[in-house]
Amino acid sequence: MTSIRIPAAADFHVHLRDGTMMETVVPTIRQGGASLAYVMPNLVPPISSVQQALDYHSRLQALDPSVTFLMTLYLSPEITPEVIAEAAATGKIAGVKSYPKGVTTNSDAGVVDYASFYPVFAAMEEHDLVLNLHGECPSNSTTSLLNDAETFQPATSSTTTILNAEESFLPTLLDLHSRFPKLRIVLEHCTTAAAIAAVKQCGPTVAATITAHHLYLTIDNVAGNPHCFCKPVAKLPSDRAALMAAATSGDPKFFLGTDSAPHPKNKKIGTANAAAGVFTQPYAVSYIATAFDRVGKMDAVRAFVAEFGRAFYKTVEKGWESAEDVTKDAIELKKEPGVKVVDEFGQGEGVVVPFMAGETVWSVTWL
Ligand code: NCD
Ligand code: ZN
Repeated sequence: MTSIRIPAAADFHVHLRDGTMMETVVPTIRQGGASLAYVMPNLVPPISSVQQALDYHSRLQALDPSVTFLMTLYLSPEITPEVIAEAAATGKIAGVKSYPKGVTTNSDAGVVDYASFYPVFAAMEEHDLVLNLHGECPSNSTTSLLNDAETFQPATSSTTTILNAEESFLPTLLDLHSRFPKLRIVLEHCTTAAAIAAVKQCGPTVAATITAHHLYLTIDNVAGNPHCFCKPVAKLPSDRAALMAAATSGDPKFFLGTDSAPHPKNKKIGTANAAAGVFTQPYAVSYIATAFDRVGKMDAVRAFVAEFGRAFYKTVEKGWESAEDVTKDAIELKKEPGVKVVDEFGQGEGVVVPFMAGETVWSVTWL
């Protein structure tokens, strides 16, 4: 297969930022083949009130009214059962994102203890909002190696590192699912075979997003290249194979969420601690098509990028999209001619480098 027509993709995990970076990134959503973006709330300060989410929604929509933006709230003490009821009533807020404190970009206000949020989860179950989990346990590293008392005391050190942080989190996923079996939960950006197995083990209310970049990367690529560094980090070749198998399997629990996470180039290189995040928005579907083609699974692209996520989130049932729009708004993917990933987007201090800059991938054309 060298070309295919499919409905526009729905990207169920994006970071669109604010200000100048938002202006650079929002126009690349459709360029990447998506007509729906599920927007993460980790701005500075985080989106933790309904009004903030609605204001952010207006700013995004002003930049591209042809995209459906679904908003999320940042799980923090401001989020109460009353806020959940208010959020659901807006019809624009679809979920709540949980970041364990300290695991990734802008997670300082994140969760320390899930038990304190059980009333919130019960309210989400009642109002049918989705819980989006960043599934990693924090490592206890510090920025100054000399100040890290544990560095030289391996016997007492925490055993959590970026390599096992996701696997260590999986018991929390299983526990939350058993306490709130009707709560729809998405384990975001799976990176391990263990995470895929855990999601499969859960009932139909639990699903997972898989990014484009984790279908390509392993930890070796990350070690040498800040543009490939994101949280959770890419893991082993066997994990990557499990992600590819799940994404191409036709199992509706697994769908696209790119976790496209732009950072200015000067925050990625030439700095002691590279910002975590890989920018994939402008070529989202191109990367997926190119990866699926390499394993002879082009027939699985449509469901993974355009169908399973929409079904899990009930986008038509909830009135966010019409069934007619979803089928009418179509894209064509072509192997030849492909498209060469440009070196940079944006200008000046806001320049951001896309994933796989300089490589040629499948092209996306709107029909
Ligand atoms: C994201 C970001 O930059 O906002 N970074 C990342 O590495 N994925 C945050 C996140 O989703 O973890
Ligand atoms: Zn993310």
